[in-house]
Formats: sequence, structure tokens, C-alpha cells
Amino acid sequence: MSSAYSLVALANGTTSIRSLAEGETFHPVIGPVAEAEALYVRQLRLPERLAAASDPEWVVWDVGLGSAANVTTALRHLAEIPGKIRIVSFDHTLEPLRFARDHSQELGYPLGFEAPIAELLEHQRSEFTHGRLSVSWQAEVADFPARMRSEAPLPAPHAIFYDAYSPARNAAMWTLPLFQHIFSRLDPDRPCALATYSRATLLRTTLLRAGFWVGTGEATGEKEETTLAANTPSLIPQRLGQPWLARALRSTSAEPLAEGTYRQAPLSEISRLALMHHPQFRGE
Ligand SMILES: C[S@@+](CC[C@H](N)C(=O)[O-])C[C@H]1O[C@@H](n2cnc3c(N)ncnc32)[C@H](O)[C@@H]1O
Repeated sequence: MSSAYSLVALANGTTSIRSLAEGETFHPVIGPVAEAEALYVRQLRLPERLAAASDPEWVVWDVGLGSAANVTTALRHLAEIPGKIRIVSFDHTLEPLRFARDHSQELGYPLGFEAPIAELLEHQRSEFTHGRLSVSWQAEVADFPARMRSEAPLPAPHAIFYDAYSPARNAAMWTLPLFQHIFSRLDPDRPCALATYSRATLLRTTLLRAGFWVGTGEATGEKEETTLAANTPSLIPQRLGQPWLARALRSTSAEPLAEGTYRQAPLSEISRLALMHHPQFRGE
């Protein structure tokens, strides 16, 4: 129900959405558009990579569709590129999107995307052009870990926006088995980068153990540092190095979550060995 969400006026004058059930505000400090620009558009170098792409279709996974602030902001920045993009959005509910549709004037970012959002709400799919860009947008409405475990095919992504609620509140979205499933769906011949707002050691060890290369991500104004991961080191300008590894080995909250219950623990022996043998930390 739309009443499960409310509008929130942020201190910087922008408006965001709060989930009353989860007690979480989407993009709580700098607001949805500024966060999407910093974290996903710039950091994943979406315009440059899409413009240079030779694949017939460039694929983005938008994990945690919510109110579509990330997708609509990205599309605004890609409008002048004469390419073809496929966006696969994942969420277990379309209610935040419905709420955003009903409050598009106050939120701003849904404006101009009313028709695709209406189609997504009705058919979970929309094909349209935005400027010179040809867009195919689909919504996978399901529990994301279950969707990753299922056999149903999905196009391998070039970029992933990872915007679940925080690990402490939404542990099922941050487990090692889940990131292993995500990594197994990447195409080794298709460079793919994933950005997320968290810089937690636990998240970074999870990504490393799942097979990603991991680096520090840009500050967003909300977080002094975020996280960028990829299936190739060439997409990670600031890779985590030995100083980070030394801190992780001493940390009391570094062991990946095995299941969807949040708990903090130092690295297990298996994780210590896996990290120490990760190609990212060899040969430094
Ligand atoms: C921080 S909000 C995403 C905000 C969104 N990216 C935007 O631009 O408005 C997190 C989203 O993750 C979704 N989510 C949480 N747990 C999930 C799960 N197990 N499976 C799928 N989606 C989930 C929530 O429904 C929520 O919309």
C-alpha cells in the first residue's frame, strides 16, 4: 500500500522517500538524484562506457528499484548517446515506484518518465526512446536472492547498481551465497562493475570471496567512501591493497554473512586464506 511510504524533506532542500515498515529513508543525506549521479553515473562511468560499447545492447542491473531514482537519473545522463540499453530492475515490491508515480511533482525525478513507469507498473516492461537512447526496461518482481538462485535466464550485466537497505536491516541482500550467485551470472568476457554505497569491511570481504576485484569508491557527500567492485581489475582505479587487508585481518566485523541474519565476527580461517590468496593481493 502506498501508505507504507512517506515523503521526507531532506536538510539540503531535496525530497526523498521513507519506508515506514523498514524505518529506512532512501538516500538520506544528499538526496536521490545527487547520490545516483555520484555513486552510479560517474563512478561506473556509464556515459563513457556506453558510448564506447560495441555490444548491440548494454545491460544494467538495478538492484533495489525502489522509486527508480537511480534509473531515471542514469537515463537523463545517457540521453544523448545513440545506443541501446537494457535495464533489468529488481525489487520484491513495486509499491515505492507506485508511490513515486503518485508524487512525481514533489520528487521531481519521475517527471518525463511517467509513461515508462506506468507500463512498468502494469506489465513490468517498457520499451521507449529517451533522446537518442533506445531503452528496454523490465522489472523482476521477486525476492532478489531467490531470483538469483533460480534457473531462469537473465542477460549478463555491464553495470550493477546495488542499492538494498543497509546490511544491519536487510541482511539477506548482503550474504556471501547471494554475491556468489551474482558473480556466477556475470559473463567473464563482458567487463562488469558494481557500485554500492557501503564501505563496510564485511561487504568488501564478501565481494572478494565471491570473486570480484574490489576498490574504494568515490565519496558521495553522504559517505566519505563507497565501494566499487568488478570482474576485471581494469574497471577499478583504486584497488584495495595490503593496508586494507591488514585491517580486515584484525577487524572484529569482517566475516561474510552466511545467511540472512546480521551478525559481526572476525574473519574465519577459510576467509583469511581466501583473501590472502586473492589475486588482488598477490604480487603487490
Ligand atoms: C534503498 S531502497 C532502493 C531505492 C531505489 N534504488 C531508488 O532509486 O529509489 C531498497 C530497495 O530494496 C528492496 N528490497 C529489499 N529487500 C529485498 C529483497 N529481498 N528482494 C528484492 N528487493 C528487496 C526494497 O523493496 C527497496 O525498494
